[in-house]
Amino acid sequence: MKAFVINRYKGPLEQVDVPEPVVGERDVLVQVRAAGLNQLDEKIRAGEFRQILPYKLPLILGNDFAGVVVRVGARVQAFKPGDEVYGRPDKDRIGTFAERIAVAEADLALKPASISFEEAGSLPLVALTAWQALVERGNLRPGRKVLIHAGAGGVGSIAIQLAKHLGARVATTASASNADFVRELGADTIIDYRSQDFEQVLSGYDLVLDSLGGENLQKSLRVLKPGGKAIGIAGPPDPAFAREIGLNPVLRLGITALSAGIRRRAKKLGVSYEFLFMRANGDQLRQITSLIDGGALRPIVGRILPFDQTVQALQELEKGGLRGKAVISNA
Ligand SMILES: NC(=O)c1ccc[n+]([C@@H]2O[C@H](COP(=O)([O-])OP(=O)(O)OC[C@H]3O[C@@H](n4cnc5c(N)ncnc54)[C@H](OP(=O)(O)O)[C@@H]3O)[C@@H](O)[C@H]2O)c1
Repeated sequence: MKAFVINRYKGPLEQVDVPEPVVGERDVLVQVRAAGLNQLDEKIRAGEFRQILPYKLPLILGNDFAGVVVRVGARVQAFKPGDEVYGRPDKDRIGTFAERIAVAEADLALKPASISFEEAGSLPLVALTAWQALVERGNLRPGRKVLIHAGAGGVGSIAIQLAKHLGARVATTASASNADFVRELGADTIIDYRSQDFEQVLSGYDLVLDSLGGENLQKSLRVLKPGGKAIGIAGPPDPAFAREIGLNPVLRLGITALSAGIRRRAKKLGVSYEFLFMRANGDQLRQITSLIDGGALRPIVGRILPFDQTVQALQELEKGGLRGKAVISNA
């Protein structure tokens, strides 16, 4: 089958013929109809994750898909050939920029019936990120105040909608040209990050979802009320994450050092910092399916490119300027 692989870190993404996926007894073989692009794909290509996600090369890139079940392993119960599904494969089994992929049954859900394959393929990674940040870690409830950075982006555009669905009051940062767009998604307070300093405008927040890191994260700590929480998805990683993914003691120490400064600053302010690296989860995806089909969430697809143009699509992701997600279509 055709797939887009890297043969070495920092090397080009290339279309090649690869063997068919091996389907384990709890796996589902999916014909990929659409694959969302993520910044993670480019970061993996550039080797930024080689310490914490040590992939065997050559590696098929791609972390999101929607498609049709071709066949299932002997012990699969919830899916059958012909089912329309979507998902984010486990971090150790990525590879959705391909004609087919074998995915663990536990990481899959039925695709929302009300949306296209391209829309469904745009969702799993960003929607699960938003869910795990706002619901699982953030415990967001009606009336709580949340700041969601980069509201016009892939994660932000879903996180704003989910936070509103949960009854929260939502502030977001975006370019002035995206102000109307993020307002329509549900943002109550909009900060033009190019001309305003969000730290001067916002205070007393319960939760921040930070997708930029660095100074943005440091400032974010200062808009929280005491007891508030900043969840960082652009880093730095924290000791809990190092434990969770089973890193060796040397790497664990390194990671502890990376986030020592921000954790110290958070403690001084009486707030907390947690790093989130989202994970595959079919159960959470089923809840997201209900929200989509119930009209509480809608996918935001800014661009669709054909499968043959996967290389260009990844390059264009770097240029930015997109609302929501870019998706590869292999209809
Ligand atoms: N740890 C995890 O599990 C996880 C999961 C998902 C994503 N991530 C990471 O989170 C980051 C965001 O991901 P994404 O998919 O949402 O990216 P994206 O769709 O490429 O986000 C781009 C958005 O960032 C906005 N932006 C740029 N600079 C900004 C600033 N200074 N302040 C506020 N907004 C700014 C842009 O807004 P305008 O267009 O309005 O200018 C644009 O809409 C990436 O680094 C990604 O790797 C991590």
